[in-house]
Amino acid sequence: MVFTFIYCNFVNCNRKSRIMDISQTEIQTYLDTPIFRLISDAADEMQLDCYVIGGYVRDFFLYRPSKDIDIVAIGKGIDLAESVAKKLGRHTKISVFKNFGTAQLKYKDYEIEFVGARKESYTHDSRKPIVEDGTLEDDQKRRDFTINAMAFCLNKNRFGELLDPFGGIQDLENLVIRTPLDPDVTFSDDPLRMMRAIRFASQLGFDIYPETFDAISRNKERIKIISKERIVDELNKIVLSPKPSVGFVLLEKTELLELIFPEFVALKGAETKEGIGHKDNFYHTLAVLDNISQNTDNLWLRWSAILHDIAKPVTKRWDPKLGWTFHNHNYVGEKMVPKIFNRMKMPLNEKMKYTQKMVSMHMRPMQLVEDEVTDSAVRRLLFDAGDDIDDLMILCEADITSKNPEKVRRHLRNFKIVRQKLTEIEEKDRVRNFQPPIDGNEIMEIFGLGQSREVGELKSHIKEAILEGEIPNERDAAYNYLIKKAKEMGLKSIK
Ligand code: CTP
Repeated sequence: MVFTFIYCNFVNCNRKSRIMDISQTEIQTYLDTPIFRLISDAADEMQLDCYVIGGYVRDFFLYRPSKDIDIVAIGKGIDLAESVAKKLGRHTKISVFKNFGTAQLKYKDYEIEFVGARKESYTHDSRKPIVEDGTLEDDQKRRDFTINAMAFCLNKNRFGELLDPFGGIQDLENLVIRTPLDPDVTFSDDPLRMMRAIRFASQLGFDIYPETFDAISRNKERIKIISKERIVDELNKIVLSPKPSVGFVLLEKTELLELIFPEFVALKGAETKEGIGHKDNFYHTLAVLDNISQNTDNLWLRWSAILHDIAKPVTKRWDPKLGWTFHNHNYVGEKMVPKIFNRMKMPLNEKMKYTQKMVSMHMRPMQLVEDEVTDSAVRRLLFDAGDDIDDLMILCEADITSKNPEKVRRHLRNFKIVRQKLTEIEEKDRVRNFQPPIDGNEIMEIFGLGQSREVGELKSHIKEAILEGEIPNERDAAYNYLIKKAKEMGLKSIK
């Protein structure tokens, strides 16, 4: 048997697909590993039909190595898992979920989930399915997308046979996300699948089949029964996809975005007054996000790109002299971050603080480009950003978007100068992880002071003098400066 095989370079999200032919022998060779042989033996001994199904099969055709294996047995999946665990030896960890009829086991770095083929239907207000035993096809048609509903048989006499009743291979070839059943049924069964459709489209660079797309719009309100944690899990996969704007545009077009992240939708639109317009901050933000995604896989730096202008709608004013202004949108945005993270059930820890810092500082490097690049301004930027300076520069550079290519070129050129200056000053003055050469304890000892306002003031004088370049970042210079400043404050050394 011969199948059409598709190759896509997903890292670059490049659509030049190389169509190859793959034979059943090649699938057999791929599956000819100790773990699949062992599952095959166990299933044959128990006289159960058994298949590897879902993401593992899809990813085989997409050249994406996968460590998650889903096994479906026509019969009791848990019994098969227990038999496989026995064959693997006493130390094999198996977790059984009787209520769901599933069992998981770990083998090397593989996670293997066993389930009995089922016919499922869902109650209207819950994700919990009512489950009955079913055939392989019953199981396949209850899955989310045709590309996720393909199975390889593992029984010896049909080892490596592909079962693709809904045209998953064809959809892989056409780069299409499509539900096996009427999409209203598939999405109503599990509304998270609406997010998954968009997530796969964004991750793989696929299109959503028109009827599937329309059903997402129709069923969007059903997303409300899904937990915030599961939604943000999918959203983060969109954020981490090669070109995240693909996913966000689909979220916006289907109107799911309004339900899960209204602050982002509020960025939409460009207003013009007296002939002066401002840019559409939704599309600008997406351009920044796509730009940054070419340079970083750091989820929180990508979130910083999403949130950098989030306060523009609430800070927008019309000033007859200045035109449109968004004063302090970075600081207001910094304050919005915890509210958004909290509502969307994202972590309220140092990752959130990092995102706040990025949002708050996102204009600082650009201000240096616009003003004259003085050493002291560069030192202040290095001091305030600390170890996050490189990430901040990546964000700021990604923020250079304009329809005028000459303007972009000019900004990028000036930006290069700032980068160079940052390197020079850091090499010379080492302010990035600034530790004052004289600390508070020493100041207390020198002047016989307890903890007091004076100590704080003297510390800050030293810091300011170093950042301003009045004195070098060295102990002797700092000591002399300290004595001078203390004298002005009427303090005497007791040493
Ligand atoms: N599945 C489904 N509906 C869901 C979730 C999963 O039908 N809401 C089915 C699909 O057949 C899917 C399989 O369960 O391929 C495994 O799901 P999961 O491990 O969550 O996703 P993968 O498709 O493997 O993709 P990824 O690992 O990228 O999440």
